[in-house]
Amino acid sequence: MDTNLARAQTIASAEQDNFASSLLSGLRKTSKEIACKYFYDQAGSELFDAICNLPEYYQTRTEMALLNRHAEEITALMGESVEIVEFGAGSLRKVRILLDAARNPKAYTPLDISGDYLCHVVRSLAADYPALTLRPLVGDFTLPLEIPHLPGPARRAGFFPGSTIGNFKPDAAMALLRRMRSTLNGGGLLIGVDLVKDPVRLHAAYNDAAGVTALFNKNLLIRANRELDADFDPDGFAHYAPYNAAAHRIEMYLVSLKRQSVNLCGQHFEFAQGEPVHTEDSHKYTIESFREMAARAGFNPRAVWTDQDRLFSIHWLESR
Ligand SMILES: C[S@@+](CC[C@H](N)C(=O)[O-])C[C@H]1O[C@@H](n2cnc3c(N)ncnc32)[C@H](O)[C@@H]1O
Repeated sequence: MDTNLARAQTIASAEQDNFASSLLSGLRKTSKEIACKYFYDQAGSELFDAICNLPEYYQTRTEMALLNRHAEEITALMGESVEIVEFGAGSLRKVRILLDAARNPKAYTPLDISGDYLCHVVRSLAADYPALTLRPLVGDFTLPLEIPHLPGPARRAGFFPGSTIGNFKPDAAMALLRRMRSTLNGGGLLIGVDLVKDPVRLHAAYNDAAGVTALFNKNLLIRANRELDADFDPDGFAHYAPYNAAAHRIEMYLVSLKRQSVNLCGQHFEFAQGEPVHTEDSHKYTIESFREMAARAGFNPRAVWTDQDRLFSIHWLESR
């Protein structure tokens, strides 16, 4: 096996922030917040995988069933000898379906912010696809990044599953789609988008009975304690994830259960009893509202696949 896979290439941006500076500025705000990309250290990525297997979390199994059902059609649209660039690649489970159906893929380039976890999952993908050129990249896809081109001509096809686009407010989502369009350099984007639906079902998906999503949310505090020598009491905060029907989004918070103070990087933060810290949004779209947004971001929305209960959608967007 290529030993370089043990060290994915890090691609940095001049605009790079880090957990400490982002957390300090988020907690200084009147409405406190923590950026959701910091969920994903090794433990956070593993907890997200556990969420994907929960009975309440319909998203992963529905999206995988759609990919399995339409893999031939999807990979025909991607074309032959493509480089598949996956944004926020996570466990790499879903791309296997595309790699199995793809026509002679030239390379697979998974990009993720969770570097140790990426190296771990890439090693097992490499063992199963020994002939595939793999280029794991560690980086933040919200920043201007140059993904180096492969030698020789290769069309790129983007893959952005898991409805990660929903973690961005509509303006930021559109900016991200524009950035991806430019990275893909004329290639199309296959993107998974969660749909508006019965609020009870949505609420259950982010408030599972086993409490795994609560652990995922609190991992932010545990990570800050470990990496930044903070002294958060994770039991002093509650996981709270209501559905805001007017804004079509799940909002995730850590709510302080008592009046408490926390030390972090030599600074002191006060939390009132009941004070929320916003940690994530998960926006839901209709098929039409997502296609409109993609068009405004410069894509031609082409094929769309959905399940019979219209829980989830996968879109093929072509670059204009
Ligand atoms: C919701 S999970 C989806 C994972 C996987 N794509 C799936 O469909 O199951 C989001 C993934 O994106 C990664 N991620 C989140 N924010 C990121 C960022 N700003 N830049 C790069 N990767 C990011 C996380 O580490 C995680 O693997």
